[in-house]
Amino acid sequence: MKFLLLLLASLLVASQPIESASFESTYSSSLEYAAFTYAPNPSPTYANSNQKANTTAYYAPHYTELSHLVGDISSTTWGTYNPNDTATATDSENPYGDYAYSQLWSLASLQNYTYFGLYSTTVEPTAVPTESLVLPPPDLFKFDDSLKFPEDLHFGVAGSAAQIEGAITYGKGPTIQDKLIPDARPKDYVTNENYFLYKQDIVRLAAMGVKTYSFSIPWARILPFTLPGTPVNQEALDHYDDLINTCLENGITPMATLTHFDSPYAFVEGTNFTAKSALFKNGGYSSSYKNVSFEDAFVHYGKIILTHYADRVPLWVGFNEPLLYSNDPASIKTVVKSTARLHKFYHEEIQGKGKFGIKFNFSLGVPRNTSNAEDVAAADRYNAFYVQSFGNPLFLGEDYPQAWKDTFANYSNFLFTEDELKEVKGGSDFVGVDPYTYGSIVAPKEGVEACQNDPDHELWPFCANVTQVREDNWKIGYRSQSYVYITPNQIRENLNYLWKTFKTPVGVTEIGFPEWREREKELGDQLYDMARSIYYRSYFEAILKAIHEDGVKVDIVTMWSFADNWEFGDYEQQFGLQVVNRTTQERYYKKSFFDTIQYYEERS
Ligand SMILES: *[C@@H]1O[C@H](CO)[C@@H](O)[C@H](O)[C@H]1NC(C)=O
Ligand SMILES: *[C@@H]1O[C@H](CO)[C@@H](O)[C@H](O)[C@H]1NC(C)=O
Ligand SMILES: *[C@@H]1O[C@H](CO)[C@@H](O)[C@H](O)[C@H]1NC(C)=O
Ligand SMILES: *[C@@H]1O[C@H](CO)[C@@H](O)[C@H](O)[C@H]1NC(C)=O
Ligand SMILES: *[C@@H]1O[C@H](CO)[C@@H](O)[C@H](O)[C@H]1NC(C)=O
Ligand SMILES: *[C@@H]1O[C@H](CO)[C@@H](O)[C@H](O)[C@H]1NC(C)=O
Ligand SMILES: *[C@@H]1O[C@H](CO)[C@@H](O)[C@H](O)[C@H]1NC(C)=O
Ligand SMILES: *[C@@H]1O[C@H](CO)[C@@H](O)[C@H](O)[C@H]1NC(C)=O
Ligand SMILES: *[C@@H]1O[C@H](CO)[C@@H](O)[C@H](O)[C@H]1NC(C)=O
Ligand SMILES: *[C@@H]1O[C@H](CO)[C@@H](O)[C@H](O)[C@H]1NC(C)=O
Repeated sequence: MKFLLLLLASLLVASQPIESASFESTYSSSLEYAAFTYAPNPSPTYANSNQKANTTAYYAPHYTELSHLVGDISSTTWGTYNPNDTATATDSENPYGDYAYSQLWSLASLQNYTYFGLYSTTVEPTAVPTESLVLPPPDLFKFDDSLKFPEDLHFGVAGSAAQIEGAITYGKGPTIQDKLIPDARPKDYVTNENYFLYKQDIVRLAAMGVKTYSFSIPWARILPFTLPGTPVNQEALDHYDDLINTCLENGITPMATLTHFDSPYAFVEGTNFTAKSALFKNGGYSSSYKNVSFEDAFVHYGKIILTHYADRVPLWVGFNEPLLYSNDPASIKTVVKSTARLHKFYHEEIQGKGKFGIKFNFSLGVPRNTSNAEDVAAADRYNAFYVQSFGNPLFLGEDYPQAWKDTFANYSNFLFTEDELKEVKGGSDFVGVDPYTYGSIVAPKEGVEACQNDPDHELWPFCANVTQVREDNWKIGYRSQSYVYITPNQIRENLNYLWKTFKTPVGVTEIGFPEWREREKELGDQLYDMARSIYYRSYFEAILKAIHEDGVKVDIVTMWSFADNWEFGDYEQQFGLQVVNRTTQERYYKKSFFDTIQYYEERS
């Protein structure tokens, strides 16, 4: 409780108006009436762009010294699949030729696939014009500037392949994302065309002074045919190699994720995406394809990526937010085992000197009434289901939480043996968390116990009612386009919960805020995104207090997202630090981008 009081006290202090406005100083306090004069225009100040890097740090040996660890891999390059051209491929004898490649797509049967966007090849970047780097007017509220970010904390921005790349049939096999949205909402076919515009996007980040860029690599682009023994896409390997080098040349540390909601379609074929299942949707984690388990196939893909890029990339995530696509307890076991296997490969076989871990979508559940034992039990259970299911084995080498085992007593094939627990313990170097907001938890009316024993209960299997109302009947915070409420105190509480539960450094791998109906605003108003700045700055302050006042070890802070993007069938909900014009693909920096980088620079 003590840190909450401290935080509250400092927020009161923090809410004094900032003095930097030149307004006050232009008035004389003399009783004589001086002639009125306008405050002069401030002279422009500019973002501190990164300098070109002259040296590269290495975190592992080069691929040529590691290639033996993945055995023989053949490589090839495919063209772009166009449904109108399928009849032209003549190599139907070749199991991995152009014909077979086009078959992957025709079996996935995309609907209304007619559009390739503006670009079909990599665009060379142009320098960012100085006039777009002018700092915006200062914030209206002052934030504590006494606390500093630790020197070894990686601070930056994030994105993910399916949400920005487009070019989905450009040598890439189909993924769950290309099929996911079974209605007329926008598909991921074009999005930000980052597959062709990545150099420009990276140069724009460097111009803003961004130091860490987190991106994801699609498994299906590297291995369109998914499985071990199938050829790798050489053009795609070269693409991500160049993406990484472009980051490094521009003074940006690359951070890479192996799968960000983009399981290859082979593992989810036949999935009814609209069907309700016990735990969200199915990412195929518990499936097999041609008798190869997801786990073995994923580990093979991960080894290819790590051997190629671990020399230059120090920060790695295996799975992004795996709970969303784990529709049965066996999926969770797959995630834990695959993460631990790749972690071991990275540190023991490659001798990687960076970090390899996992990241969760986890907004802490806080009991609405902390004096009510049932609300507390429901919140404990909610948090246990969200993160201890993965985290107990992975960080502590301990069994699943009891509530989890009891709830899924009827499922087989997901329990760990003692040996397996030893094997997976310590299999992630950080607890990555995407703590966008929090939930005010109320116990089910019938009680937690009754819900647990009734799979037909509306709240099963979590058996916690997640609300956005506090005990005093106020909403939990300022609300935006969707589920994100500005709740810095509970973000601090979340970091404490993870650190104290798992005794492992925490990575804040995504935080972000969609402004209310931002996309409907005119461009100038989209760029003046004050609520997003307040969200970030209040969260940064909460993170700094967790670090300095509560002793939580935080390694990473990356903001979601570096640009507005395809939020899974949705362009209306914008989380970006830049606006993207959907017709021209032009990017524009929002005020929050300047404000957040400036906040970091002032405190590092
Ligand atoms: C790289 O070298 C150039 C030329 O010597 C220098 O101006 C620049 O500051 C160096 N960059 C960094 C990041 O040290
Ligand atoms: C395929 O052909 C149709 C009819 O000519 C055209 O409308 C569509 O854009 C083409 N699709 C692609 C991907 O080129
Ligand atoms: C295909 O386009 C039609 C016409 O715009 C639309 O009604 C339909 O929902 C679309 N189908 C899918 C799966 O997007
Ligand atoms: C998929 O699930 C939905 C919802 O349960 C159901 O209405 C639909 O019929 C199912 N589709 C198929 C092909 O099974
Ligand atoms: C999968 O394994 C089973 C049992 O070993 C075997 O009968 C079957 O033919 C295999 N299927 C494929 C596609 O390899
Ligand atoms: C993440 O969790 C929040 C809160 O539980 C939920 O509303 C949101 O849909 C989740 N996002 C994803 C991508 O799973
Ligand atoms: C909170 O729970 C306690 C214990 O059950 C109860 O006495 C109290 O009335 C509750 N507070 C509210 C506001 O409901
Ligand atoms: C588990 O299976 C038993 C026996 O089939 C059944 O009575 C019980 O309702 C099931 N429980 C759950 C939580 O599914
Ligand atoms: C969850 O709580 C809300 C607000 O208190 C209530 O309206 C709703 O009925 C509850 N839902 C369930 C399933 O208990
Ligand atoms: C995007 O660019 C087009 C063409 O310049 C312009 O007409 C449109 O207004 C722009 N959209 C936004 C949201 O700025």
